Amino acid sequence: MIFDRIKSLDAILATAEKKSLSRTLGWFQLTLFGIGCVIGTGIFVLTAAGAQKAGPGLMLAFAIAGAICIVAALCYAEIASMIPVAGSAYTYTYATMGEFLAWTVGWALVLEYAVAASAVAVGWSGYFSGTILNEFLGVQLPAWLAAGPLALGGAPGGFINLPAVIIALLVTWLLVVGTSESAKVNAVLVAIKVTALTAFIALTLPSDQFSASRFNPFLPAGLFGGFGTGVGAVGAAATIFFAYVGFDAVSTAAEETKDPQRNVPIGLIASLLFCTVFYILVAAGAVGTIGGQPIMGPGGIPFPAGSEELARQCALPQHAQALVCSNEALAHVLRRIGFGTIGNLLGIAAFIALPSVILVLMFGQTRIFFVMSRDGLLPDALSRVHPRYKTPHIVTMLTGAAVAFAAAFLPVGQLADIANAGTLYAFAMVAVAVLVLRRTDPGRARSFRTPFIWLIAPATIVGCVFLFFNLPTAAMLVLPIWGGVGLIVYFFYSRRMSHVGRGIAEVPESETGKLEPGVPSGR
Ligand code: ALA
Repeated sequence: MIFDRIKSLDAILATAEKKSLSRTLGWFQLTLFGIGCVIGTGIFVLTAAGAQKAGPGLMLAFAIAGAICIVAALCYAEIASMIPVAGSAYTYTYATMGEFLAWTVGWALVLEYAVAASAVAVGWSGYFSGTILNEFLGVQLPAWLAAGPLALGGAPGGFINLPAVIIALLVTWLLVVGTSESAKVNAVLVAIKVTALTAFIALTLPSDQFSASRFNPFLPAGLFGGFGTGVGAVGAAATIFFAYVGFDAVSTAAEETKDPQRNVPIGLIASLLFCTVFYILVAAGAVGTIGGQPIMGPGGIPFPAGSEELARQCALPQHAQALVCSNEALAHVLRRIGFGTIGNLLGIAAFIALPSVILVLMFGQTRIFFVMSRDGLLPDALSRVHPRYKTPHIVTMLTGAAVAFAAAFLPVGQLADIANAGTLYAFAMVAVAVLVLRRTDPGRARSFRTPFIWLIAPATIVGCVFLFFNLPTAAMLVLPIWGGVGLIVYFFYSRRMSHVGRGIAEVPESETGKLEPGVPSGR
């Protein structure tokens, strides 16, 4: 039987108890932390891909993805307040549905964290090349150094995205030497991002160039473009779901939160609501001022975002200024409506703030690998801690190399879609875990109980499955293929080495070393 290895909840909680982090975070810091993790490439860059899929219906897409994330957040709130330990969805699944499914979740989280970090690195690269190099320094990076190859959806003449590689390696180095983001730095970065988005909204919505006629047709590719096509408002929702990825990091701070019953759900929901409202207003401002109609291919179906065909179309003079062709969508809109300087400042804001999103995502990845390795499912070497920096340096460097490699060759939209596939799986499993725990352990203290759980959790599962099937087919296929590789690793290595399987309850700290606490949150 493969579902029999369940890690005892009491053992997990006992480990957490030993760590005993002090409870210092309030709802405001948690909300700031959530916003800091969430606002990034999704809104600053993928707005273009979203418009190519949905046209003005991008606004609806942000609302759909936001609603699914809010129900998922309610599930996270309950389970995080019950199991406030490292490892997030992986640990929750281990405690409820056993090692095998936990392994699949941990494996899928690689897509959520590592691939998402690659996507943000590529998004950052667009702003670096466009705003910093081009606008400020007057330097045009050669095409072959600015994007991945056209065959993979990059730009014509592209070969490697050098800025994305450099930022990924730089963040890796910061993580190896133990940099974690303090609450103050996070607050400053949130202020920068929110100011940039507020300026965008304040300059676009009341602009002379804003015209309601640009919203017509509102759904040029329909509401549903069809499963696997990745177009239509729902197809766009599946892609710009990426703009919300990262909110679950709030749940990992449950252990350090004062009155988590109240503050964790407030932090999760408030940060999501805040971002949803901003995203919809930003989408309205972008579409209303410069238009956001997709470039249509044969049969009146939009060319796939990130495709070779779209890249060729965007190279034509008549499309060069289109929202859907821009690598730095928001700065581009402001420049086009006559606010060049503020567009450039927004570009600088993205340039400064996006690396912290990469940092949080890569941090999350290394900690999940760390916990999986501590459980024996991955080699011990991965949880080895650097004697001086007290960081899991080996796993950090391996993760960094993989993140840089993916960022070097793949375009942001494809990376985001792949990250979404893994995230949707993890979110759905968390909702299942909450339901399972309600049945199997109804008496255990829950400092937060999700209201209407028998409605909210199934809504999360259905929403995640629905968005998953609206991703482009290629992104959908990555999950089972990646999962297949994971199964081989599990059955040939992890199952035999598992500490739970071998009856080893806890690994002595001397074996793995001890991590400095370092969740990049409110400390
Ligand atoms: N939500 C994060 C972003 O959009 C991952 O960059």
